[in-house]
Amino acid sequence: MEFSTRTIHAGQPSEPETGALIPPIFQTSTFEQDAPGCHRGFDYSRTNNPTRARLEAVLADLEGVAYCAAFASGLAAENAVLQAWLRPGDEIVIGLDVYGGTYRILNRVFQPQGCTVRQVDISNPAVLESALGPHTRLVWLESPTNPRLLIYDIAAISASAHAHGALVVVDNTFATPCFQQPFQLGADIVVHSVTKYLAGHSDLIQGAVLARDFATFEPIKFLQNATGAVPAPFDCWLTLRGLKTLELRMERHAENAWAIAEALASHPLVKRVYFPGLPSHPGHDVARRQMTGFGGMVSFELDGTVDDVAGFVSSRRFFALGESLGGVKSLVCHPARMTHASIPPEERAKLGLSDTLVRLSPGCEHRKDLVADLVEGLNAVPRAREAQAATA
Ligand SMILES: Cc1ncc(COP(=O)(O)O)c(C=O)c1O
Repeated sequence: MEFSTRTIHAGQPSEPETGALIPPIFQTSTFEQDAPGCHRGFDYSRTNNPTRARLEAVLADLEGVAYCAAFASGLAAENAVLQAWLRPGDEIVIGLDVYGGTYRILNRVFQPQGCTVRQVDISNPAVLESALGPHTRLVWLESPTNPRLLIYDIAAISASAHAHGALVVVDNTFATPCFQQPFQLGADIVVHSVTKYLAGHSDLIQGAVLARDFATFEPIKFLQNATGAVPAPFDCWLTLRGLKTLELRMERHAENAWAIAEALASHPLVKRVYFPGLPSHPGHDVARRQMTGFGGMVSFELDGTVDDVAGFVSSRRFFALGESLGGVKSLVCHPARMTHASIPPEERAKLGLSDTLVRLSPGCEHRKDLVADLVEGLNAVPRAREAQAATA
């Protein structure tokens, strides 16, 4: 079955009792039992719920594995993986570019508990090799990364990590299974902020963990019930609805991202464009090899000041200024002041994360409108500077 067919048919038969084409939301906290302890697969909705089970089945199918647990947010999903697989004294190796919340949970929650976080340039095999050791339990990466859309070679990193007995976790939020299949490249665990492209409409918060084998999955599944950060049935139903158009949406997001990247690359006020589809992107060849599409995100460094950036991102017609990404409605974000503000400024500088970086999440609007909006905003920067200078 092809990918788009699976998004609509996998794990989603019509509802058996009534034939409803789209199964209803099982909005219930508990289930009537026939005798004590004797139920029909569901006893309490924190433990399991039919709507959530359907969602988990579809996500597992799309990522090509048997095991999935859905969570109340992407960070709750990350927390379950970290709690399951990191103990005091253990080490985790992460790439230079990761979502700010991932940086925060590692450095502010797990580091104080005695875990060591090694943030290194995992794209460099020698650097990665020297960071791996007998205590490395996990290697954690995003590809493309948030916010600079760096590309990491998942197969090569997995081979090095496995040689040291470490598990490889890939945050597949940006690529989605539509464009990248991390398990085929060697990953042991995949995490998602389902909030983004998978749900796709900026109307819910949700996460998921998928695992290649039961032994890796079992402690995560245990924590889903034991710590209880589960998504509501209604939110699972919304994601099931969103997933049915995942491929259609991803194609449009990617098409828009291409058009925007090309337009930005030739604008004099743009210092650098980050989009893995551009041949000038350092990860372009690896992206071509390990992805079937370059994704829908574009970031760029504005040749100007932080105030120029603030003016630009605050006055777009079609790009709403907001955290998050991956919805049908376009979003723009200033990572240094928003999504990545939890990384201290000196750390951001060390990691190469410029304060004039702008991150775009083109939605499903027409590319001509999106490109025009951005070019108009860039062309207005010199005028805004002059106006500011005149009032100073
Ligand atoms: C790559 C990535 N991973 C994880 C998360 C966290 O997900 P959530 O916001 O659903 O908790 C985010 C959120 O922006 C993200 O961009």
